[in-house]
Order: sequence, then structure tokens, then C-alpha cells
Amino acid sequence: MNNVILIGFMGVGKGSVAREVIKHSDYVTIDTDDLIESMANKKIKHIFQEDGEPYFRKLEKDIGLWLENSVQNTLISTGGGFYKVENLKKIGTIIFLDSPFDEIIKRIKKHPNSASKLKKRPLLSNIKNAKELYKLRRPEYLALADVVIDVTNKSAFECSRELLEKVKKND
Ligand code: S3P
Repeated sequence: MNNVILIGFMGVGKGSVAREVIKHSDYVTIDTDDLIESMANKKIKHIFQEDGEPYFRKLEKDIGLWLENSVQNTLISTGGGFYKVENLKKIGTIIFLDSPFDEIIKRIKKHPNSASKLKKRPLLSNIKNAKELYKLRRPEYLALADVVIDVTNKSAFECSRELLEKVKKND
């Protein structure tokens, strides 16, 4: 396997950290949301609207099996709910990007594209519900993680360096 899987709540910066890691290492990267959009040939927002969340979760499960059987030496960035696939531990070393909920929201709002970042994430459309989801998920992310990286007040570059150091030690 030798894969590294990034898990964490929506907007925590999994994609940005993955992009930095590949700039500074031999890893290639894939993103489960991108794979799902290609498989379904539509945007996640539309999968949620037209097919419903359970169908999206089924696609995540299918992707999880494919990753376990077919992907090696890859940095896998995941959607915030992907950690629920049953075979997660068999896919690779699990890195949890951690940050307080309010910091995540601040981070998204600071982004020049913040409106589109919020729009493309159906589960962030109601902040109160999103906070409840965060509270529910954070202990689950922590329980699964081989490595935890606190991303608060760190650049994606700093997080990528920390990731590469910690993954080496975890080998
Ligand atoms: C989801 C997170 C999203 C995307 C989908 C569901 C979730 O990915 O997979 O909207 O359940 O947390 P990001 O974590 O990249 O926003």
C-alpha cells in the first residue's frame, strides 16, 4: 500500500496540503471527490441534489475498495465524510488534519473564492448543522488517525513539511 490518506472536516485544507506535499516529495496525489465527480460525471452538489447523500456515500465506498486494491505510493485527499468507509485502515497511513470549527469557518471566509467554496459543499450550507456534524465527527477522526496535524495558524507548506516528517517516523 504505502499510501497516505488525509482525513478531516470540510474546509480544513486537505486539498491545499496535498498540493504542497506533491511539490516537495515523490508522492502523486488523488482526491476522492474528484474521482467521484468523474465516475458520476457530475458535480458533488448535483449528486446530493439529484441522487441523494446515500448514493454519494455508496460511491465513496466503491472508491474505497478501488483504492485498497489498486492504488499505491499515493497521497489520497478525501472528502470530509470519506473516513466512514469500512476499509479505511487498509488503504494507508491515516493523517487527520485538525482545527477548531471556528478556525475552519474563518479560513473558508478568508479565501477569495469563499462563496463558491461554501456553495459546492451541501453540508456547509447551514453553519449550525455543520457545527453539530463537526462535534460528532472530530472524536471519530481522532480515533482513526495514525498521525494528527494541528493546522491552526499554519500555512499549507508548513503542514506539508510536518506531514512528511511524521510519515517518515511512522514508517
Ligand atoms: C463532505 C465533504 C466534502 C464532499 C461532500 C461531503 C462531508 O468534501 O465530499 O460534500 O461529508 O464532509 P470536502 O471535505 O473536501 O469539503
